[in-house]
Amino acid sequence: MSLLITHIGELMTQDAEQRVLRDAAVVLEGERISWIGPAAQAPAADERHDAAGRAGLPGWVDSHTHVVFAGDRTKEFEARMAGEPYAAGGIEVTVRATRAAHDDELDALVRARVAEAVAGGTTYLETKTGYGLDVEHEARSARIAAGLVDEVTFLGAHLVPTGWDAEEYTDLVCGPMLDAVTPYVRWADVFCETGAFTPEQSARVLQACAAAGLGLRVHGNQLGPGAGTRLAVEFGAASVDHLNHLSDDDVDALSGSWSAGRTGTVATCLPACDLSTRQPFPPARRLLEAGAQLALASNCNPGTSYTSSMGFCVATAVLQMGLTIQEAVRAATYGGALALRRHTGDDVDGHRAVGSLAVGHRADLQLLDAPSATHLAYRPGMPLVREVWRAGVRVH
Ligand code: NIG
Repeated sequence: MSLLITHIGELMTQDAEQRVLRDAAVVLEGERISWIGPAAQAPAADERHDAAGRAGLPGWVDSHTHVVFAGDRTKEFEARMAGEPYAAGGIEVTVRATRAAHDDELDALVRARVAEAVAGGTTYLETKTGYGLDVEHEARSARIAAGLVDEVTFLGAHLVPTGWDAEEYTDLVCGPMLDAVTPYVRWADVFCETGAFTPEQSARVLQACAAAGLGLRVHGNQLGPGAGTRLAVEFGAASVDHLNHLSDDDVDALSGSWSAGRTGTVATCLPACDLSTRQPFPPARRLLEAGAQLALASNCNPGTSYTSSMGFCVATAVLQMGLTIQEAVRAATYGGALALRRHTGDDVDGHRAVGSLAVGHRADLQLLDAPSATHLAYRPGMPLVREVWRAGVRVH
């Protein structure tokens, strides 16, 4: 079955040429894109859909979420808005609620969050574990996530649970916990921060997870200066996320990781989290100008960023972080795909490229109730996502 979507007023492809086409059309064939170009030259297809001048762009690639959780932290949020600083210890409140939830309940909660994300235009979603923090519950979180999202990241190293010696808990993460989650996950992450894991403990986790064949990601430089970004680059992590407190050396390390044509460490910014925790925004402009690659992600979680709205993140990146619309949309689509190493591939190992619109790429597309993507920032907070196709299937 082929579907022609025509009269797209403005189409941002986010492919290698970063084209912005006027009065464009796209043909979806099965799960892939088979044609893109001017509407006037579009080939015939089995079905036809008139976009009536609306803007089209790739579905969002949300490369950083923590959607496997139960419970609520409204009180903590209220206290923070009244002046309390964010501290990593709040994670344990969610760990208790998550452990107490039955499998069916947790599964339904994750499903509902994924559906919300899809309705907001997200067509490719990563989640982390990290609210189980023992072997049984980390494995359960990973198993449930693997059935419901595109990419799963093991985050046993999210917090040292109360009552544990930090070194012994790190041994558990690097040993039995890692063994239990490995069948379900492609990535591993560590929260390298004061109050979570030291640089030495973080390095141990990254080493063990790499040896188990997992790709690496790091939570770094969120609450203060630290070793997270340096470690991420040293270990060849696909991304380092947060980046609110970067030194000049960190910026150089991130940009240097892409020098000489190498595929380096993506700098993932989480603007909704920065607002909710009142952290300074990462130096996104400086990173781009230095040659680093940027991603934007929602960081949907109950502690620091209880939203999966990528449109909100794009608007914030434009209004508050100094990115252009094109740069912000690119970071939320192609950038996320790059951070998940899904930016290339034409059915390579059963995977098609996501995050950009080109022939052979996965047919992940959203149409906005607006004539241009600029409206995402011009009309912030408005429900502009009108239609969403994921792998060629209309899902919203
Ligand atoms: O990415 N930084 C660590 N993890 C989450 C917060 C988790 C929580 O507070 O529950 C984050 O912000």
